[in-house]
Amino acid sequence: MSTISVIGCGYLGAVHAAAMASLGHRVFGVDVDERKIAALSEARAPFFEPGLEELLASAQSDDGTPARLTFTTDIADAAEATVHFVCVGTPQRRGEFAADLTYVDAAVESLLPVLKAGDLVVGKSTVPVGTAERLAEIIRPTGAELAWNPEFLREGHAVDDTITPDRLVYGVPGGEAGEQATAALDEVYRTTLDAGTPRLVADYATAELVKTAANSFLATKISFINAMAELCEASGADVTLLADAIGMDDRIGRKFLNAGLGFGGGCLPKDIRAFMARAGELGADQAVAFLREIDSINMRRRVRMVDLAREVVNGSFIGKNITVLGAAFKPDSDDVRDSPALGVAGLINLQGGTVTVTDPEATDNARRLFPDLGYEADLETALRGADAVLLLTEWKQYRELHPEEVGELVRGRAIVDGRNVLDPAEWRAAGWTYRALGRP
Ligand code: UGA
Repeated sequence: MSTISVIGCGYLGAVHAAAMASLGHRVFGVDVDERKIAALSEARAPFFEPGLEELLASAQSDDGTPARLTFTTDIADAAEATVHFVCVGTPQRRGEFAADLTYVDAAVESLLPVLKAGDLVVGKSTVPVGTAERLAEIIRPTGAELAWNPEFLREGHAVDDTITPDRLVYGVPGGEAGEQATAALDEVYRTTLDAGTPRLVADYATAELVKTAANSFLATKISFINAMAELCEASGADVTLLADAIGMDDRIGRKFLNAGLGFGGGCLPKDIRAFMARAGELGADQAVAFLREIDSINMRRRVRMVDLAREVVNGSFIGKNITVLGAAFKPDSDDVRDSPALGVAGLINLQGGTVTVTDPEATDNARRLFPDLGYEADLETALRGADAVLLLTEWKQYRELHPEEVGELVRGRAIVDGRNVLDPAEWRAAGWTYRALGRP
């Protein structure tokens, strides 16, 4: 058993802290945000993540066993920890491509007074390659060491991805320090390793690049199929069948080949931009110049969606009710950061449409970001009187909508399937105008 601190209790940190406690470790979650800490201390998740509240509750149970999980705003409370995970955000800098490392630097700075000889600081945040080397220099005078251990969790699956990841990657210094860091991490991840999870030990730079490369590859896969969707639209072909067919080649694989409105969220878009910025600093910008095109293909999908929506309401949004299904950047999340759905809703609003956005979890967050849009929590009410329905985030309840039932509520039977998840034949048979991105 290890005693662990987790600095930063956002998506990554809150889930990591709860997961490590569930594996039997003593965990201190630290964050400067008092509201977040108050919520987590009462086993309430500050964001929607399936399974997280159950995990928080079980680790903080008052059944007489000592608490394994404590949340605090005071880093001094975590002084007894010997392994310190840095889990703060690295957002895109305003007006630039590069990542903003303010929070990472502040987290390391705040740790310095509590670090003891033999402690291990473990970076999990997604950072530009070279950051770990720089931070290690700052940490070393305390007698502590640094490891970089990138995180691959997906929102909506964060608990499972943390406890049973595909792989563990450790970036460690050379020599004995590296061996000690590896041993300390092995102890933290003992249960996961015993379950057969592969572990790769690397240098700092490789570990940092693994994360950026993985997200860049995923973004590329999505934009590749969306580029094919553009060709399908131009030639009358069907991108979903195309994806099924090429995906059966197991060198290609069907996962992450869902064409539609493209990627958003707090990771993929800013990570590929930060990668381009860092590559430029390293004099290797040509190597990832293609990511600029990946980004453009992705952003073009939003504009194309608005065009399709305008077509189904006969060329103008003025005086039209447009119901947008989904505000989150993907289903099973309430995260609206760079949400393609909200981007589309905002554009239609600007073009004179009366937009009503509904989402099972994300309307509160969406309202804060786009206060001008109409919001309706109840799906039936949101659909009532619509001239067009746009399915932009593929929540299960939207995938299972029944064309006849929805048809009774709307004013015009027109639907644009921004995620290619509905059966066109079924909707057309019920008298709907069905349009989709990349399908005839
Ligand atoms: C992504 C990565 O998948 C994680 O491995 C990584 O740890 C995480 O970023 C991170 O850097 O923290 P996440 O942002 O939660 O995870 O979401 P994804 O499941 O990757 O989806 C990203 C976007 O791509 C969503 O907007 C989704 O709708 C879109 N997408 C996904 C598609 O448009 N088509 C697909 O086939 C798959």
